[in-house]
Amino acid sequence: MTARILDGRALAAALRADVAARAASLAYRPKLAVVLVGDNPASAVYVSAKDRAAREARLDAQTIRLPAETTQAALTDVVGALNADPHVDGILVQLPLPPHVESRAVLEAIDPAKDVDGFHPINAGRLADGQDVLTPCTPRAVMKLLAAAGAALSGARAVVIGRSAIVGRPVAGLLTAAHATVTLAHSRTLDLAHECRRAGIVVAATGRPEMVRGDWVAPGAVVIDVGINRVAGGRLVGDVAYDECLGHAGAITPVPGGVGPMTIACLLENTLLAAERRR
Ligand code: GUN
Repeated sequence: MTARILDGRALAAALRADVAARAASLAYRPKLAVVLVGDNPASAVYVSAKDRAAREARLDAQTIRLPAETTQAALTDVVGALNADPHVDGILVQLPLPPHVESRAVLEAIDPAKDVDGFHPINAGRLADGQDVLTPCTPRAVMKLLAAAGAALSGARAVVIGRSAIVGRPVAGLLTAAHATVTLAHSRTLDLAHECRRAGIVVAATGRPEMVRGDWVAPGAVVIDVGINRVAGGRLVGDVAYDECLGHAGAITPVPGGVGPMTIACLLENTLLAAERRR
């Protein structure tokens, strides 16, 4: 068997075009506000990419750049002003924040109706409760890639490797809501290979390069690789040993070009959804 390769770039382009078409049909322009504190170079690149993608999808975008010394109180005030601004539909505070700022308090200051990252505990709680909410962008991207693979989720056995609040836990919640039988595995799971071998769906979000081996993957399983790791020689690899898994999986996401491009497209979709629901 040779796995079908799930082309995240093509799917993301289609989703961005769909968001642009839906945005164009509205009487207003949905607006995304991104807050960047300090000068972390990687964050600056991500924030520019989000701003550009939003404009290309016919959304309004505003990036608020604040100095690294910004106090927690000042940052919370900026978030409060964005909450109160009727023209702002989505708010994203880029992480990581400088060490003197308590990230959790800042994220909790965001109006849950404008929380396009889906990180507010109200949104996380509602997602765990099975409600339809603004879901974090990477988990949303995972679900869209599974749909593109044609994976039958209802009744399927799924393993999610990694229990982070941003990826693993919400993915497990979304798969459960889609009627899969979910195992949420992590670094202390006793026999991870065994858990994987009995799963029809494998979602890897561990941050460990090429941890999931080919012989862990059941014939025909759908493998979604959330990882992106730079290894010796500068090569980018996922959390899945891609070449090994090609001969086992039914469908698989590449790294790069799988989950990553879909994540920003999902942020744009969340901004549109937030606007449609709020206005
Ligand atoms: N930093 C890296 N990824 C993300 C993300 O998805 N959201 C936010 N707010 N910050 C990030």
